[in-house]
Amino acid sequence: AKNVGIVAMDIYFPPSCVKQEALEAHDGASKGKYTIGLGQDCMAFCSEVEDVISMSLTVVTSLLEKYKIDPKQIGRLEVGSETVIDKSKSIKTFLMQIFEEHGNTDIEGVDSTNACYGGTAALFNCVNWVESNSWDGRYGLVVCTDSAVYAEGPARPTGGAAAIALLIGPDAPIAFESKYRASHMAHVYDFYKPNLASEYPVVDGKLSQTCYLMALDSCYKQLCKKYEKFEGKQFSLSDAEYFVFHSPYNKLVQKSFARLVYNDSIRNASSIDEASKEKLAPFSTLSGDESYQSRDLEKVSQQVAKPLYDAKVQPTTLMPKQVGNMYTASLYAAFASLIHNKSSELAGKRVVLFSYGSGLTATMFSLQLREGEHPFSLANIASVMNVAEKLKSRHEVVPEKFIETLKLMEHRYGAKDFVTSKDSSLLPPGTYYLTEVDSLYRRFYSKK
Ligand code: ACO
Repeated sequence: AKNVGIVAMDIYFPPSCVKQEALEAHDGASKGKYTIGLGQDCMAFCSEVEDVISMSLTVVTSLLEKYKIDPKQIGRLEVGSETVIDKSKSIKTFLMQIFEEHGNTDIEGVDSTNACYGGTAALFNCVNWVESNSWDGRYGLVVCTDSAVYAEGPARPTGGAAAIALLIGPDAPIAFESKYRASHMAHVYDFYKPNLASEYPVVDGKLSQTCYLMALDSCYKQLCKKYEKFEGKQFSLSDAEYFVFHSPYNKLVQKSFARLVYNDSIRNASSIDEASKEKLAPFSTLSGDESYQSRDLEKVSQQVAKPLYDAKVQPTTLMPKQVGNMYTASLYAAFASLIHNKSSELAGKRVVLFSYGSGLTATMFSLQLREGEHPFSLANIASVMNVAEKLKSRHEVVPEKFIETLKLMEHRYGAKDFVTSKDSSLLPPGTYYLTEVDSLYRRFYSKK
């Protein structure tokens, strides 16, 4: 199979959202802390009738319908998620309801979990399958889904929720350049979920930022090395049109791209002009550790990076800023934002993605984009995702209501024997929602 990659995409996020500006005021944070300090506009969250299973059912059904894919044509289904509803039964098995109905139970794959990285692991599994001897000619399907919620405190505004479905096959408009792929994996306690009775993570926010940037540096250096080995010339930021980052909150994405500019400057790469190199020169002798601590470097590199950031990153930031951290779906929602903003202009362009999951696992990888043929064209993918309309038709909820929902969900997490309000009034037609969890913890969903 040639040009294996993403042939189609769809995204779903809950219609309920809270404005960061309102949340900031409600939390008594200084004005601008969430909107400018974290760079976030709005945050989506699951109401009591939605969860990762309902969102996944919704997005998979929608993708199959909108691209007219016969459910029998799916040969592998993989889910990436870090939202634990069941410690044994995979989310993938819930999604099998859609396929069983059409007589297709011959579908490989289960769930992958490691913080925000599970979706990338699932994606690589599907791409590798299509490229392998075990491939039976059918499509792979990847679902990245999470509901990101934090305990009261500074991390709470960095939540979010979504599900993304990626259809994988040959002759893709979004093809993997598999030789340009570099990983960094290590053992750290930056963000983890050891308390199985709670949906909330234990998080060392500052450590997670530094781990993220260290993993980014390491992956970028390895990717540059691999590129130089294959191409016989230096890789720099000029060699990709766009850079897409896992996006816990936008400020970290700004810092990340600035970090790559700093890397290129140290490597004396052609992407950085002389004036910028001069500004960054005083920091070239810092040790790794010193460079992560230096507030001056952070400031100067972000300033130097600004024009390049506007061109190469800004078009990827729409959904992460509007929806929040979607954990496994976050990177792919950023990529979906790029397709939404640039669609067919992307043909012939290289896009580099950086996936990060705390704990930690990280990979940087490269995609080559082509116009593609209907229905698997960049233009049609943008039209199916219908991002502008989905964002516009959301319902803003006051912070009090958001917090009330989180409180209710704290009680519901791991609980049995309850029925939900079954209130689907805010949900668009075709959306699945939770109606009941019975005395044996079995979950029941309806479709609006
Ligand atoms: N106006 C403008 N900016 C402000 C204001 C204000 N009124 N007040 C604060 N700021 C800025 C700060 O200067 C800081 O920006 P800087 O880093 O550029 O200096 C930013 O807002 C955040 O302020 P902090 O005081 O550093 O934030 P705090 O410690 O309260 O929390 C954190 C931020 C650590 C990101 C927290 O939200 C968190 O733990 N989130 C979850 C962890 C996370 O997402 N990690 C990322 C990778 S791992 C993952 O994906 C889960």
